[in-house]
Amino acid sequence: MNCSSFGKCGSCVLWQVPYEEQLKMKKDKLKEMFSKFEIPEIEVIYDKDEHFRARAEFRVWHEGDKTYYAMRKRKEEGRGVIPIEECKIVDKAIYELMPKLMSEIEKNQNLRLKLYEVHFLSNSKGEIIVTLIYHRKVDESIAEDIKRLKDKFKNVDFIVRKKGRKYIFDKNYLIEELEIKGKTYKYKIIENTFTQPNREINKKMISWVLDNTSNLKGDLVELYCGNGNFTIPLSENFKKVVATEINPESIEAATYNAEINNRKNISFLAMSAAEFSELKKTGFFNSYDLKNVLIDPPRAGLDEKSRKFVNEFDNIIYISCNPETLKRDLETLSKNRKIKAFAFFDQFPYTNHMECGVVLERV
Ligand SMILES: C[S@@+](CC[C@H](N)C(=O)[O-])C[C@H]1O[C@@H](n2cnc3c(N)ncnc32)[C@H](O)[C@@H]1O
Repeated sequence: MNCSSFGKCGSCVLWQVPYEEQLKMKKDKLKEMFSKFEIPEIEVIYDKDEHFRARAEFRVWHEGDKTYYAMRKRKEEGRGVIPIEECKIVDKAIYELMPKLMSEIEKNQNLRLKLYEVHFLSNSKGEIIVTLIYHRKVDESIAEDIKRLKDKFKNVDFIVRKKGRKYIFDKNYLIEELEIKGKTYKYKIIENTFTQPNREINKKMISWVLDNTSNLKGDLVELYCGNGNFTIPLSENFKKVVATEINPESIEAATYNAEINNRKNISFLAMSAAEFSELKKTGFFNSYDLKNVLIDPPRAGLDEKSRKFVNEFDNIIYISCNPETLKRDLETLSKNRKIKAFAFFDQFPYTNHMECGVVLERV
């Protein structure tokens, strides 16, 4: 990939490293980090290295009559943001919309004044939600201007935010369709709730989890389930699934997603992983054959209560976006368990971030 923002923008820190080399570098780094564990050969799962992000957030840079998207500067250049002409990591639909949208915004003072950030969320059909975030009072008059934008960009819904207020034109969600192993799964993805950023890698992660759970006996517990991203396809590998997540909006989407995909064997609960683990005392799990758990926590990894709870299962599938906390949690979870599979999913080309998947089985 070659991007005119390379070397300026602080997002793609590995801009000078050819993509193949990035993959090797990251695999070697993981090998070294996890050398104290007995891990199998690391599977490297990757896809295209440009136009891969289905969501992105930009700051806005105002200079005279001109307005630009901006990103944080490279660390070496100090703090703050820098204007950029393009971003090649966002998917094609977002990439094509970005300059056209900015040119319309630039022409309209009501849309432009103190515009602070622009967020994009897209689906595989090229539909997009654009969120405009302002650092000023925005009144109802913006509705007319947004209507004009909507007439220009038929594939876009808009959300306007300013401190404590949110206006939605016309909806705050998209329906995503993912084809996985020959089947199409539908997902409601809601603006400002978690969705996997890299669509193609997400499909490969779901396939990998499906493959690694196809022979498991017993029911499935899932923590940090989001909108049911893994839950919906995975429910086909299990008799019963109970999945939880802290964000009620994501659980609302997950429940809707089970319905539109006709999955009837899943119960979704909106609560923290730690609260959920407390349910053990209440007998809630008595009707479940508790053998398997899938976890996909945020960067902080597992808190102590949740780690203890997860450690009671025979089979653990751990999806992690932070190798440091994965390593910490494996210190506990790999005792009396064999690490059967270890994958590195390159969700974030040109950055140092690494997403991993680990399958553990009690010995
Ligand atoms: C990395 S995301 C994974 C979501 C989902 N598995 C997916 O693939 O889209 C982590 C999720 O954990 C949720 N979360 C954060 N802290 C939590 C907690 N303490 N207990 C339960 N869920 C939490 C977030 O809202 C987010 O949806």
